[in-house]
Amino acid sequence: MMSTIRSAVFPVAGRGTRFLPATKASPKEMLPIVDKPLIQYAVEEALSAGVQKLIFVTGSSKRAIEDHFDTDTELERVLDESGKQDLLSVVRDIVPAGVDCIYIRQGTPLGLGHAVLCARSAVGNEPFLVHLADDLIYSENACLKQMKDHFGRYGCSVLGVETVPEDQTGSYGIVAVEDDGDGVQRVTRIVEKPEPQEAPSNLAVVGRYVLTPGIFDKLASTGRGAGNEIQLTDAIARLISDEPVHVLPFEGIRYDCGSKLGYLQATVEYGLRHADLGDSFRAYLKNLDS
Ligand code: G1P
Repeated sequence: MMSTIRSAVFPVAGRGTRFLPATKASPKEMLPIVDKPLIQYAVEEALSAGVQKLIFVTGSSKRAIEDHFDTDTELERVLDESGKQDLLSVVRDIVPAGVDCIYIRQGTPLGLGHAVLCARSAVGNEPFLVHLADDLIYSENACLKQMKDHFGRYGCSVLGVETVPEDQTGSYGIVAVEDDGDGVQRVTRIVEKPEPQEAPSNLAVVGRYVLTPGIFDKLASTGRGAGNEIQLTDAIARLISDEPVHVLPFEGIRYDCGSKLGYLQATVEYGLRHADLGDSFRAYLKNLDS
């Protein structure tokens, strides 16, 4: 197994029914936070971790994602001719030279585990990242970069985790952990979306994973689980008997952009942090209070 991480997998086949009608003809991953679609934040985070292959596992109505990461020569020409060089570089630099975008269709929506398995041949026999664009994480040090660095030190799979309120365990993969020395924690159990009374803890996996390629054989032989879907969590539950899987309580603020409230919170907070808009947006919000 290679020890460098070269690929990031973005499962983007989900229909985003919680945001209908906004997501009727447009992918939920294209919803913007201020001026950038969620999937671009995802790609930027993965690029910060140094990957060269961006693997999108897509489904129907997702063509806008491919267009977004493709060159738009017509738009570039118009921006160039009208002297808008700043905007020209904004659209030109979305994917740096030397980085490949690969699109794989998940023919049937059999769940997150199945989506990751669809990326197997594109990833190869190497460790890789998985990023769920619904979970937007703000951090000075990109979350996936923190996870890649952890992998660099320990060479095992890593799950991004944070504690959640006990009544929310039913929305997440929940882990039980034990000390693995060196201040590091290792997964001893992982359950997909347990009710609070069955949850092993309130430590939840948020949408960031470093996975060793051993996960693929597990996924290939994992049957349907919660929600009648092939769950990544169930494959990880089987991986822990073969190899260590660590958790990383990363530094950063997570916004659940799969929910309307989380999406609005992200919009407000990214608006406040925005270099051009922050001050006037803050002044506007202050006025709203009074
Ligand atoms: C998925 C995973 C779950 C994880 C969550 C993080 O669930 O199945 O284990 O905790 O993402 O956001 P989903 O939110 O896609 O239902």
